[in-house]
Parts: sequence; structure tokens; C-alpha cells
Amino acid sequence: MRGLEGKVAFVTGAGRGIGEAIAKRLAAEGAKVAVADIIEDNARQTADAIGAAAIAIAVDVTNSAAVRAAVAECEKRLGPIDVLVNNAGWDKIEPFIESREETWDKVIAINLKGPIICIRAVLEGMIARGKGRIVSIASDAGRVGSTGEAVYSGAKSGLIGFSKTLAREMARHHINVNVVCPGPTGTPLLKQAMQNSKLMESLVRAVPFRRLAEPDEIASAVAFLASDDAGFITGQTLSVSGGLTMI
Ligand SMILES: NC(=O)c1ccc[n+]([C@@H]2O[C@H](COP(=O)([O-])OP(=O)(O)OC[C@H]3O[C@@H](n4cnc5c(N)ncnc54)[C@H](O)[C@@H]3O)[C@@H](O)[C@H]2O)c1
Repeated sequence: MRGLEGKVAFVTGAGRGIGEAIAKRLAAEGAKVAVADIIEDNARQTADAIGAAAIAIAVDVTNSAAVRAAVAECEKRLGPIDVLVNNAGWDKIEPFIESREETWDKVIAINLKGPIICIRAVLEGMIARGKGRIVSIASDAGRVGSTGEAVYSGAKSGLIGFSKTLAREMARHHINVNVVCPGPTGTPLLKQAMQNSKLMESLVRAVPFRRLAEPDEIASAVAFLASDDAGFITGQTLSVSGGLTMI
């Protein structure tokens, strides 16, 4: 046991994919989990699969008022939030030159502003209690770039830079802020984005381990950073990508 028992975790985008695996892993380690997702049915399915330790909350992370209400609902039903996991994300893979401004706005809103909104909503409580863990899911695309994902890479890089500054500002309050960067991971998002199987093959070839990550492999890194084992780790960016990037 490494200190997650009885902790309250708020996981965004936990209705499916990596977020679902994170919610299940944190619950398996004893946490109470708010499964937050814009798709309420999916949030409920994940929460039902976890059982009594989980609640489902419908929320759009790009809407500040909705996020504040979701945080208040979580705190009322489960207690003060100890761990925030910013996992909700979205992308449309296409050459930048063909991309439209509406798409840029959506990518930046979900992948960069969403985490900023969620962090702001939990931060005062964490500061008042003098403790907290924030783990955000960026991407290796935000570390080294990724063809067809220009604005997404920029948003994820922004999330990494934002998290480092926040880690510096929050250290005095004993709040750890870290980022996990998945490489290609077998989730609905990747399968939708990569309908072209040649693209998928070349992606897998670029990974030294020659396979996609499993969502649970990302979840184990998140659980580590949320646990007491990572108490002295802050401002870090951890790639979980089978060696795709080594920086
Ligand atoms: N799958 C990959 O290969 C991969 C690689 C690198 C990084 N990531 C990142 O990992 C995270 C999870 O990705 P995934 O592959 O599991 O994606 P996914 O699409 O399977 O799941 C994302 C979840 O986020 C939810 N969501 C989307 N917009 C939301 C919003 N505005 N408010 C609340 N919830 C919202 C969706 O409903 C969905 O349940 C994302 O941040 C993604 O950018 C994924």
C-alpha cells in the first residue's frame, strides 16, 4: 500500500480509454474516484464497473462554471479532492495547412485550457489543506512533435510548461504537479484518429518495443505519481511510450 487508500481522486475523461484505466487503477489502490466525462453514459459505465468507491459526474472540462460545479459535487459526495488527474483530451489528425481555426480552438480548449480550468477549480482547496497531487496527461507529441498533430502538440507542450511553473509555485504548499506523456496507446481515440492502417503500422514501427501501449500501462505511471512513493517528485514529465522518445 502506498498511501492512496481513502484518498479522493477526480479523473477527467474517465468514461473510456486511458482515463477509464486510471480511474480503475486508483480505485484498485483504495482511492474514492469521481469519474468525470462529457459523455455521461460512459462515465456511469466506468463508475458502475468500479462499484461503491466511484461516482459518475457529467462535465465539460472547457466550461469553468460546469467544472466548479463538478468539483463541488465531488467534494460533497466523496470529500475534499486529494488527487486531480487531467486526462480528457481530443485531437483531429490532419496536415496543419489543411486544418481550420474551429479545430485549433477545440484542440486548445480541451487539451490546454481544460486542464488549467480544472486545476484552478481544485487549487484553493489543496492550498488550504496544504497538500495535493496533480497529474496531467500530455503526449510525446508535446515533447518532440508529431506529423499531423501541430496544434495538439503545441497544446500539450503548453500543458507541460504550465505544469512546470505551477510545480514551482505550489511546492511551498506541498502540492506536487507532474505530467505523464503517453506514446501511441490502444484506445478509441487512437483507433478513430488512425483509420488508415499504414499510418498505424508506421507508428508502431517507430516504437522501440514495436507495439502500442496498453491504457493500464499509462495508469500505473499516474498511480505512482499520485502515491506516497512519488512524494519528492514534482515538475517532471514522464514518457510512457516504449522508448518512442528518450529526452
Ligand atoms: N491514445 C493515445 O495514443 C494517446 C497518446 C498520447 C496522449 N494521449 C492523451 O491521453 C488522454 C486520453 O486519451 P484516450 O486515448 O484515452 O482518448 P479517448 O478519446 O479514448 O478518451 C478521452 C475521454 O475524454 C472525454 N472528453 C473529451 N472531451 C472532453 C471534455 N471537453 N470534457 C470532459 N471529457 C471530455 C471523452 O468523452 C473520452 O471519454 C488524452 O489527453 C490524450 O490526448 C493519448
